[in-house]
Amino acid sequence: MKKIISVCRGDGVGPEVVNEGVKILEIISDYTEFDFEFKEAPAGGEVWKKFGNNLPEQSFETIRNSDALLFGALGLPDLPLGVAESAIMKIRQGLDLYVNLRPIKLYDILREKCPLKDEFIGSGIDITFVRENTEGLYKNIGSIDEDSAQNLMLYTRKGCERIIKYAFEFAKKKGHSKVTSVDKANLLKPSQLWRKIFHEIGENYPKIQKEDIYVDAYCQWLIRAPYKFQTVVTGNMFGDIISDEGAFLIGSLGMASSGNINPRNVSMYEPIHGSAPDIAGKGIANPIGTILSVKLMLQESFNSLEIGNEVDKAVEEALKEGRTVDIKSEKLKTLSTEEMGDLIAEQLKNRLKK
Ligand code: NAI
Ligand code: MG
Repeated sequence: MKKIISVCRGDGVGPEVVNEGVKILEIISDYTEFDFEFKEAPAGGEVWKKFGNNLPEQSFETIRNSDALLFGALGLPDLPLGVAESAIMKIRQGLDLYVNLRPIKLYDILREKCPLKDEFIGSGIDITFVRENTEGLYKNIGSIDEDSAQNLMLYTRKGCERIIKYAFEFAKKKGHSKVTSVDKANLLKPSQLWRKIFHEIGENYPKIQKEDIYVDAYCQWLIRAPYKFQTVVTGNMFGDIISDEGAFLIGSLGMASSGNINPRNVSMYEPIHGSAPDIAGKGIANPIGTILSVKLMLQESFNSLEIGNEVDKAVEEALKEGRTVDIKSEKLKTLSTEEMGDLIAEQLKNRLKK
């Protein structure tokens, strides 16, 4: 199965971690029915310095004509904030990537790296946030003057329906027994429409339990009893906040993966961290967030739950042997970005050979 993967390495640690993601894709290409071809699509700060444009037309064309995009991170400390980063919004909007999928899973072997006490971790953390990625406050319709400022929190029926439907389908595919909706329907009108649509759509999934939680309460439930949640669907603003809170629970920012998805379009897969200028060039960044983004690509864009799960198991096995410095363990070897990637690649190769 031939697939073209566009690759945007980006700035800072971006190219370092993307190298390891590509390594994993190459193994999959070698050992399964997939046949991947990679096409570079440069964007970000370094590109802006060369061409005065953070997303050259050529790059966007390459992305648009590919089957999926693997993305590093953008941003350089010597450029004003946004100069590099705005390319991300151009891609998200240009491709109408309305799903922001952000899974957080705490591997058992990393329980000691979780900031929560063991009793709160309970049976474990394995949550997927499904965040609406195009509407709400982030549409940035508003105004500002000296005395007041406003933003319109616009939710449309179409926007709510498509994200909520995606969440239920995702839960069904994963065998989840519950979908939790996070809103602020006790106060905000957009949330009232959201909640109505959540239950309308939920009726089509009789086997899945529906749960509503207000966002402020959810913030405490997420650290008090994270084991209660499976698929969590929410709007743009609330999703931004709770998914970052969640990302901290799995041991390191470097472990968290994400997808910016439109099921009918090219989707973009990226670690949630930024270009990490404080560690860039040192070869110590954790590549697992990127490698787990490859897992998402396999599962969401290429419909291969199975190979995605193999990637996940390869990561879990590798974590028993060595770690990058952000999740280091006294008992194990401390590895560079490349060595961590090699270890996971080796594990994956052995699993796929069978
Ligand atoms: P950051 O995520 O780059 O770094 C925050 C902290 O986490 C740093 O201490 C960093 O060393 C650490 N860290 C990040 N990734 C890591 C990894 N893979 N392994 C180990 N440690 C890791 O966030 P920060 O410092 O706020 O932003 C730096 C630049 O990145 C800024 O220009 C920002 O705008 C941009 N950014 C870009 C994003 C994107 O491209 N999607 C997302 C977030 C930030
Ligand atoms: Mg954020």
